Amino acid sequence: MKQKVLIIGSSNTDMVVKTAHFPRPGETVLGGTFLMNPGGKGANQAVAAARLGADVRFVAKTGPDIFGKQAREGFEKEGIDIRFVTESPGLASGVALITVNAQGENEIVVASGANMDLHPADIPDQAFDQVGFALFQLEIPLGTVQWSLGKCAERGIRAVLNPAPAMPLSAQTLKGLYLITPNETETELITGIEVTSGEALQKAAQSLIAQGVQNVIVTLGSKGIYLASDGFTGIIPAEVVEAVDSTAAGDVFNGALLKALADSATLEQACRFACRAAAISVTRMGAQSSAPYQHELASFFNDHE
Ligand code: ATP
Ligand code: RIB
Repeated sequence: MKQKVLIIGSSNTDMVVKTAHFPRPGETVLGGTFLMNPGGKGANQAVAAARLGADVRFVAKTGPDIFGKQAREGFEKEGIDIRFVTESPGLASGVALITVNAQGENEIVVASGANMDLHPADIPDQAFDQVGFALFQLEIPLGTVQWSLGKCAERGIRAVLNPAPAMPLSAQTLKGLYLITPNETETELITGIEVTSGEALQKAAQSLIAQGVQNVIVTLGSKGIYLASDGFTGIIPAEVVEAVDSTAAGDVFNGALLKALADSATLEQACRFACRAAAISVTRMGAQSSAPYQHELASFFNDHE
């Protein structure tokens, strides 16, 4: 059975420049190609899930400007339910300035704008209707995420937190989560444990579980993921691809993961599916421009077998 996925989060427009190397403070680097494309962790996850066939409802806030208008048109094109995407009259839509180096690594600065004006009063009860799984990130006010997690608990909705960008989280926020999906940096910040070995990963996951999180996935970039769950605990390796730009790899992973979970996959199956989708995304430039459609998954990996 296919359940509805609710994503509450940010929407940005990404201004991306590819460069040979990142500038040092005070240095100007003549960069390469420029790409403007839709981004924002929440929106990227919503688009990734929808392209893979999920039934997605997205809740966000944009400004009354061309970026917000273009973002909403993009969501509609992907078949995402955006009844609860609203506008902040006095604020600009979110913008991210992104530099990508020759190794496909990125540096990102976000002007959050209207994203930080998304409050509980903007999210009516109906937004949670018929939802099986909900997915959150941290590019909107933390208070809005915490309030929404409370709503999920009341309604029996399984809540997944992708705690990005990295920030410390209280035990109250973690308690009751169905799943948390930090990368290595975020794991270290939340648990205080440096994840430099398999043993450390296990210890970090256990500390999150001890705080009331039911399942833990630590994403490990090109190394794949570490999953700690009832059914499976261990590393699932990443697909081997040539990385061009890792921007939004985590977002595509999370969107794909929720799509699979909403289709009743086990966490292990969902992780394997999400690793494939995320691997495709790193072979392409940009955030939403890199998220694969369902039909591309089969063709991409057949081509590479
Ligand atoms: P980002 O902030 O760049 O969106 P992240 O730090 O949240 O990413 P990562 O751990 O870098 O998340 O990547 C998420 C997942 O994407 C990984 O677990 C892996 O499955 C896939 N992935 C990332 N980089 C690569 C790569 N170079 N090759 C193959 N798969 C990759
Ligand atoms: O995770 C990638 C995203 O982070 C980008 O799309 C950018 O908008 C920032 O929010």
